[in-house]
Amino acid sequence: MTTSNIIPTETLLNHHKIKTAIADINSETLDRRAFVPEICKVFSNEFITLAEQPQYRFAINREAQKQLPDIISNHVQKIIPGLSSNESGKQYFLKKRNIGIVFSGGPAPGGHNVIAAIFDAAKKANPESKIFGFILGPEGILENRYVEITKELVDTYRNMGGFTMIKTGRTKIDSKQKMELSKAACQELGLDAIVIVGGDDSNTNAAFLAQELKPHGIQVIGIPKTIDGDIQISTEDGETLCAISFGFHSAARAFAQNISNLCTDASSDLKYWHVCKVMGRVASHLALEVALQTHANLTLIGEDLADYVDNARLQKAQEKGEVDYTAYGMTLRHLSRLICDVIVKRAAKGKNYGVMIIPEGVLEFINEIQIFIIKLNTIIAQYNQIHDIDFHTTFTSLDAKLEYLRRLSRGITEKQASPIWNPRDDELFNDLPSFFQEGLLVERDTHGNFQFSQVNTEKIIMDMVVDYLHILKEKGEYKVGIEDNRFYYTMQRANLDPELIGKTIFRNYREDRYYLIKKNIISIKTLKQALVNAEIIDEDQNVPAPILDIFKKSVPNFKIQTHFYGYDGRGSNPTKFDCNYTYNLGLTAFSLIANGATGQIAVIKNLEHSFDRWEPLGVPIAKLMHLEERKGKLTLVMEKNVVDTNGNSFRIVKAMRDKWLAADDGDDHYRKPGPVRFQGKSEEDKPLTLVLNSLDSISE
Ligand code: FBP
Repeated sequence: MTTSNIIPTETLLNHHKIKTAIADINSETLDRRAFVPEICKVFSNEFITLAEQPQYRFAINREAQKQLPDIISNHVQKIIPGLSSNESGKQYFLKKRNIGIVFSGGPAPGGHNVIAAIFDAAKKANPESKIFGFILGPEGILENRYVEITKELVDTYRNMGGFTMIKTGRTKIDSKQKMELSKAACQELGLDAIVIVGGDDSNTNAAFLAQELKPHGIQVIGIPKTIDGDIQISTEDGETLCAISFGFHSAARAFAQNISNLCTDASSDLKYWHVCKVMGRVASHLALEVALQTHANLTLIGEDLADYVDNARLQKAQEKGEVDYTAYGMTLRHLSRLICDVIVKRAAKGKNYGVMIIPEGVLEFINEIQIFIIKLNTIIAQYNQIHDIDFHTTFTSLDAKLEYLRRLSRGITEKQASPIWNPRDDELFNDLPSFFQEGLLVERDTHGNFQFSQVNTEKIIMDMVVDYLHILKEKGEYKVGIEDNRFYYTMQRANLDPELIGKTIFRNYREDRYYLIKKNIISIKTLKQALVNAEIIDEDQNVPAPILDIFKKSVPNFKIQTHFYGYDGRGSNPTKFDCNYTYNLGLTAFSLIANGATGQIAVIKNLEHSFDRWEPLGVPIAKLMHLEERKGKLTLVMEKNVVDTNGNSFRIVKAMRDKWLAADDGDDHYRKPGPVRFQGKSEEDKPLTLVLNSLDSISE
């Protein structure tokens, strides 16, 4: 193109096609905004009331009874058509309300629809009602920073991902002073109710706020959010009331799509192992869902590793009349050996590539690491408390932190030697690579949780794998299998005798489709020696090029590409399932508010069934609380759920392990879940784990 042909930039920018291309809003966004979620039948009624469901029972924690006396007696409430009482019920339902909403914790696709539904329902009941969004999470409540939600604002974010509309944060409302500030903010705004959209910690906040604000007539309702999928609510009798938190489906679909693309790439150029760390702070629900959607070659499930028992070790001890407690639970070393085993098996079948999924929270299930995490949680929390200054502010470098721990273990720093960090702990900790030490010492979040997302878990594991593979290679146990046809073709083309050479260099010649070089042939020198011994070549001859070529192809070059799937999926647009789910959660929250409920979490029962069976409920948060270690202390928090290793989903993945590993002569079994769709029907319309786990009760 000559300079005279160049269109001036100004003209370009004014061209309608270019204007469309560079606009912030595209047709995808417009389509999403226009999508109208389906609503449960009950919400099409003019009036909605609540019916108590005392048949749903829970094991109540004594501490919850003590700390949350005003909301502990709540029952599950079902949303039904009608009014609680004629005139007063009607007036209460239709009254002008001010409702505050806050997002809390990590973003999860669908959150905006919760706001949209509360806005729509509140305005429908009384157009004068006002909805306020606190900015940047609970911190917005403490600082009284909010925005009034308008129709224009809501319409911009309908069915869109993220928590962009009002942002989010992880501040914990955990002190008398913060409670007072929250109460003041609610009163200043004249709030009738506040809705907390969050995970286990945020719903814990909701329960304590509900207790505090009840005497002041301010209702608090929780919403089950987290991509981790660990908010699953069942009764004492095992009836599921909330099968999954919102956001899980969308995040899992986003991860699965990317990981399935890696499966395609890996099986195209056959040169990499793709190591994919998948979010989920503790529970491995996301990893399990992605395994089902993609059929990756290896998926670690933390909960499964925790259940591991080394029977050989147990038996050995038993023979000596002893019990070896270290045989229970998996060590990092053992885990790396298991991964190596998988890699070696696939390589033997010519597949020195693959895709493995590592859940972000896997270290929580490795005993030796979990102990370090708990001890360090306590040490950091105690330091912060005693010194009234943050541990990480005082000790900025790793060396300074290590020095503090060293002195602590010897009783130099504090008044006496620490009962939880002894010289042996210190010694073991010092054996870890520094990036791992740094990971374990990472700042805890405001709730005292260990921040797994900031630890290079995959590096910790894969470094050990690489080291051990090296040893296996030197021992001649890690080899790439050579396909029989390839070998014959190469030999015949060079006029070499495949029989003689095959028997000389392979350990399984004619026994398998993939031939493995003998264990003692680990270098060109040892290869030559084998050929000389078999009188195929003389001492002064070089190894013939075709044989050398076959040998080189058998030497594994272990190459990995690591990936972290987390923040990307968390920011993805919601699936149709999550759009519908969250909109109905919002409608449920409003129905609870409009009927005077407080201390309840809005849920949809029967999510695993077809939409017409979805059943909106309010569940008492106080009855879902239990004691958990936080900042070194047992603290009352809402219970979260980890993967049930007796559940259908896990058992299916376990049963399919060998097949998906594909350490055989056949092809891989990768599955392509494809992109999120709003049209048509597919197996991916809801989480696969949700469907599989409920199979015993599904009749559709
Ligand atoms: P929530 O439970 O608050 O929804 O957050 C879940 C999560 O996405 C985890 O999967 C992850 O470990 C963590 O948040 C990351 O936190 P942060 O956003 O603070 O890095």
